[in-house]
Parts: sequence; C-alpha cells; structure tokens
Amino acid sequence: MLLAIIGSQWGDEGKGKVTDFYAEKSDIVVRFQGGNNAGHTIVVGDKTYKFHLMPSGAVHKKSLVLGNGVVIDPKVLIEEIERLKKDGFNPDISISDRANIIMPYHRILDGIEEKMKGSFAAGTTRKGIGPCYSDKISRFGIRFSDLLDTEVFKEKLNLIVPIKQKLFDAFGEDVKLDIESIYNEYMSYREYLKNYIKDTSVFLNNSYDKGSNILMEGAQGAHLDIDHGIYPFTTSSNTNAGGICTGSGISPNKINGIVGVMKAYTSRVGEGPFPAELNDKEGEYLREKGREFGTTTGRPRRCGWLDLVLVNYACLINNFSALAMTKIDVLTGMKKIKICYAYEYEGKILHHFPSNMKILSKCKPLYKEFDGWEEFDWMKVKDTKSLPKQIYSYVDYIEKQTKTPICMISFGPKRDETLILNDVFRGV
Ligand code: GDP
Ligand code: IMO
Ligand code: MG
Repeated sequence: MLLAIIGSQWGDEGKGKVTDFYAEKSDIVVRFQGGNNAGHTIVVGDKTYKFHLMPSGAVHKKSLVLGNGVVIDPKVLIEEIERLKKDGFNPDISISDRANIIMPYHRILDGIEEKMKGSFAAGTTRKGIGPCYSDKISRFGIRFSDLLDTEVFKEKLNLIVPIKQKLFDAFGEDVKLDIESIYNEYMSYREYLKNYIKDTSVFLNNSYDKGSNILMEGAQGAHLDIDHGIYPFTTSSNTNAGGICTGSGISPNKINGIVGVMKAYTSRVGEGPFPAELNDKEGEYLREKGREFGTTTGRPRRCGWLDLVLVNYACLINNFSALAMTKIDVLTGMKKIKICYAYEYEGKILHHFPSNMKILSKCKPLYKEFDGWEEFDWMKVKDTKSLPKQIYSYVDYIEKQTKTPICMISFGPKRDETLILNDVFRGV
C-alpha cells in the first residue's frame, strides 16, 4: 500500500502532523522532493519536533528514506540525525545515491540571485534549493554516488568550483571558494553518512512488492510547484503528485491514495500574488492565533481566507483521494468566516487561476460568507453530523465545491486533536 501526503495550498498546511498521524500505520516514510526549505512540525505531548529534511515518520521510529528527488544539505541532515539521537531515537535512514547535494556555493548563489531578480524574487529560504536544482537540470550537479567515489568528487569540484568562482567575480561578489576546504568538509560528511547511502528506488520497490506500507511525504504545496505553481513565485521542485514518481523511482500505478492537506484558511510565506490575503485585523488575528510564523525562517506568514480556486486547482492536478483539513480551531471565535469560491477579473468570473501574474494580481476574490462558531468540546464529536452546525456547513461546502471527501479534521497541533472521518489506509 502506498499513500501520499501533498500540500494543497502554499505549504505549511500541517503536512508534518498529518504525516506523523499516518506514519503510525506505515513501515517506511519517504521525502521525494524539496530540501531543508521545508519545515514540518510534529507535537507529541509536551515535545515539539521540527524537521527540515528528516521525514516526519522519525518519531514513530519508522524506516526513513530521502529519495533521489530531494536536494540534501549534508550538514543540516547530520544535525537533524544528531538532534534525534539526543532525543533517544536512532533514525533508520536511507539516502538515495542519486540525490543531489547542496554545496556551499548554492547557498551563496541563492542570496545573490534573489537580489538580482528584483520584483520577481520569490523570497526564498536562502538554503540553496534553487541553485542546486538548477545544477541538477544543467547536469553540473554533484550526487551522493559522487561523494562515495572520492576521485569523481574531486574531479567534479575541480571542474565546477572555478566556474562558480567566475560567476561570483562577474557579479562583483566578495566570495572566495577554496576547493581544498570544500573537499575536506564534504569528506567529513561522507564519513558520517556513507553507510546510509543506497539505491533507494530498489529498496522502495522491493519493500512495496513485499507488502510494506509506504507513506510519501510531500514538502511545500501545490502552488509552489515549479510547473503548476504561481511561477516564478514558486520553489524549484515538483511538489504535486507527479513528483512522487520522479523523486522516488516508484511507478504511478503503485500509488494507492493521495491525501491533500488543506488548512482551513490560507497562508503564504514569501512573495507573489495572493488574492484572498487579509491585510487587516482579521489577517493579524489568523497569524497570531494560528502562530503563522515560518518553521524554517521565522518570517511572519501572510494570511487570508480559504481560497477554493487554489484548492480546486490542486484537486484537479492531483486527483486527491481525500482532503485532510487542518487548523479549523484557529477560526473558532470569529463572527463571520469567508471562503473565496471564484475570482473576478475585468467583469469576468474565473474558476481557475490564470497563469499570467499581472492578471492574477488584479483578480478580486468573490466570497461566500459563513456564520462563525464558539468554543465547544471536540472530544464529543464523532462524525461530521455531530459537528456544530456552522462547522458542518463550512465542511459540507468545501466537500461539494472541491468534489473531494474530507477524511480528517485537525483541531489542534497534537496527535489526539484529530477527528478521523475516513480511514484512508483502507482505501477511500
Ligand atoms: P507543514 O510545513 O505543512 O508540515 O506545516 P508547519 O509545521 O510548517 O506548520 C503548521 C503549524 O501548525 C505547526 O506549528 C503545527 O504544529 C500546527 N498545526 C498543525 N495542525 C494544527 C491544527 O489543527 N491546529 C493548530 N492550531 N495548529 C496546528
Ligand atoms: P513546507 O514543506 C512554505 C517558499 C519560500 C519562497 C519560495 C521559494 O514547510 O510547507 P525556496 O527556498 O524553496 O527556493 O523558496 O517557496 N517555500 C515555502 N513556503 N512552506 C514551505 O515548505 C516552503 N518551502 C519553500 O518562502 O516563497
Ligand atoms: Mg512548514
């Protein structure tokens, strides 16, 4: 059985919590794209874990895989492994020998390119993600299999580092790259990580064929996808379902279910158009109550009403089996709650978001208004019908508009603050 978790908005939907929840019934949890731009939070009792590279199955002591589609900063990975060891875990992790490695020059380039992009800058996390994926695509990348072969690694450094140096010099940047020190630094990472590096495609396919439950943990969200997102205000990987296969070596016909994670409202870190954004007291309320501050960079997240134009597009390209709705508790206490169901542009009604950024930035959200609800005892709720009627109508509207069932409602960061409506591991 293979189940995937994909963000349906702009990231930070609560994928970490949802992955941790399904990880209990899984044998292997896999990251297949992105890198340490991701920040996934899991709360277990009084303890909060924040993972950037480590799959969110770590706390359940599952087998963990970083697939070929992930870009890996070895320093960050080692720090996460060490942190887990301090917390009493001994992570069983496999790193794809085909995964690309984030190098020091990628991190530096990330900052320089952002400055050069002016109004097209996405407000990246500056972790070197874009430059590393660029090198992968232009075939200047260094992979873990290269790190294992010290001669190839040196040969690649001797070729690539002088080219990057020329770039920095041309940009007038005061950066001096030293091949020897990069080599020595990465040799120490090699020493630490070498036993974890393997052909993870073979491992995953063999495990699947033997009947293991595999959970694919997406990072970022549908509208940060390099192809389908709001380009160029995206990340540099395929965050949608297509990325599962290319980023792990698993065939599409092995995927049994895809759960889209949807926050009950919308948030976004970084730049770019955001039609349903609230630049007012209500936006501030959502940010404060929802603690919407970046897990990776600490930046305040921009907040707005739930935007079903975005979620519907995510449903379209991912064909989600179900949606897991998170952070419904954050809306508690608001008098009126709105959902954006379409955009208006120059008198026309749009139900799909346009690819032209100028048009998108002029789109006006069209809202349906809902009555809010007050605090109540979630523990007494067993199904959608026993929800307060205002929440029921909110949930019912979303299911009808997205034509997708809601399998889970999360009403707090902890594991037990979760209402299960449908067991997706048995098939939806
Ligand atoms: P991810 O990147 O999609 O894994 O999400 P993040 O971890 O970056 O951000 C989600 C935040 O919301 C984290 O702080 C979670 O602990 C928290 N969270 C998850 N689900 C809920 C929920 O249902 N209610 C509340 N209040 N917080 C939640
Ligand atoms: P998780 O997995 C929210 C955003 C950045 C920036 C753009 C490009 O926690 O949901 P990058 O560093 O990837 O080149 O930045 O993408 N971004 C995220 N926003 N959640 C994330 O991950 C993100 N990862 C990248 O803010 O706008
Ligand atoms: Mg996050």
